[in-house]
Amino acid sequence: MQIRQVTADERTDTMFPLQTYAFMPSPWADADRETYARRMQYYRTAVGLVAEEDGQALAGVGAFPMRQNVRGTVHDMAGVASVATHPSARRRGFVRALLGRLLQQMRDQGCTVSTLYPFRASFYGRYGFVGLPRVRTATFAPEGLSHLLKADLPGEVERLPMRDAFDDYTALTLRLLGERHGFSVFDEVRTAEFRDTPRWVALARVEGEVVGAVTYRIDRFGGDLLADDLLTTGSLGKALLLQYFARHVDQVACVKLKVGTDEVPDLWGTDFAVLTEGRVAHPSSNGPMARLLSMEALTGTSTPAEQAITVEVVDDDFIAGRYQLTGEGGQLTVEPSKNEPRATLTCAGISALAYGVLDPIEVVTRGFGQVEVSAVEPLSALFPKRMPYLFADF
Ligand SMILES: CC(C)(COP(=O)(O)OP(=O)(O)OC[C@H]1O[C@@H](n2cnc3c(N)ncnc32)[C@H](O)[C@@H]1OP(=O)(O)O)[C@@H](O)C(=O)NCCC(=O)NCCS
Repeated sequence: MQIRQVTADERTDTMFPLQTYAFMPSPWADADRETYARRMQYYRTAVGLVAEEDGQALAGVGAFPMRQNVRGTVHDMAGVASVATHPSARRRGFVRALLGRLLQQMRDQGCTVSTLYPFRASFYGRYGFVGLPRVRTATFAPEGLSHLLKADLPGEVERLPMRDAFDDYTALTLRLLGERHGFSVFDEVRTAEFRDTPRWVALARVEGEVVGAVTYRIDRFGGDLLADDLLTTGSLGKALLLQYFARHVDQVACVKLKVGTDEVPDLWGTDFAVLTEGRVAHPSSNGPMARLLSMEALTGTSTPAEQAITVEVVDDDFIAGRYQLTGEGGQLTVEPSKNEPRATLTCAGISALAYGVLDPIEVVTRGFGQVEVSAVEPLSALFPKRMPYLFADF
């Protein structure tokens, strides 16, 4: 077996059959191949690796060069996708070899974190990834928000096709990349594909400044308004967009809207009937996962703690080692250390702390390491729990 990097143009002959067999209805039509080939113009900066035998691609993996906010620091991120093996070549270690090579290459390219959407979390747990929260869907009838119809809010909402809203929408995502923990975006090459997404965009503005946006479509008169992520810079943007949805009261029965785990739709109104759910199921409906590819890159991460601790990271090709973690003046510093560690963590364990999804005790109970009793408080203080919102879906 040989591993080879393929160009975007080569993907149609190598990765397309593997991916399409794995993830799409099949057998596929010729038109599906042509659609894939056309889309490859947006994959020019993505890295594609295939494992070949006798010139035939039997497994493939890919990564998008992306960026992600982790506690206020924007990292270069490898967004891993397109992981598939031909059924006759499964369980021969092809993806294990490909993933190792891919993460190394993305690390060499400067990526300090990586995320993916797993088919089964335990599979990627072996490679150091830990689960992040799944996005929630809030489902409600627009009349539940009728109190907002009378509210005189200082701003307005404009409805545009994505093509016309694209620049404003993309600018808002870039602003949120700098402001929101966990938020991630593709590079310009991949983002360009979304210009033609068949979606409306509701853009909320206050004195000309975009303070919120949501993409959506309506399935039929009296049906559902199917919205994607509720993106806002704060409460006013949210109120403007919810008011806009309230105005669909005699047009749709239901609004379905994606929100982060930090959002509590029950509190959007009095007597407001809403179902908020985040169903996890294998293989098609999992929350994302993330891992660190560099410990030193955590230097500069915001932290409220004024203390230091030595930890050891074990069993990992990229970040194994002993580190001194120091919180000072609102920022974390990470340096190599020779001190005795007070916590021994796997990559998943330290990644869970850095991303804010588990506290030190949960890290231990989940099997991601050992933490001395005296280390629980400093680690909790250095890495307060804080749920990330990934946004990008790939
Ligand atoms: C999942 C998939 C990509 C695995 O590819 P593969 O080439 O068979 O994987 P490998 O042989 O390299 O397996 C790596 C390890 O994971 C284990 N493994 C493989 N498939 C697994 C599964 N479905 N569940 C749990 N463990 C699995 C292997 O036993 C191996 O363990 P080892 O390192 O201890 O030997 C392949 O089965 C596939 O294409 N499935 C359909 C598409 C899909 O789900 N892709 C993933 C999208 S996120």
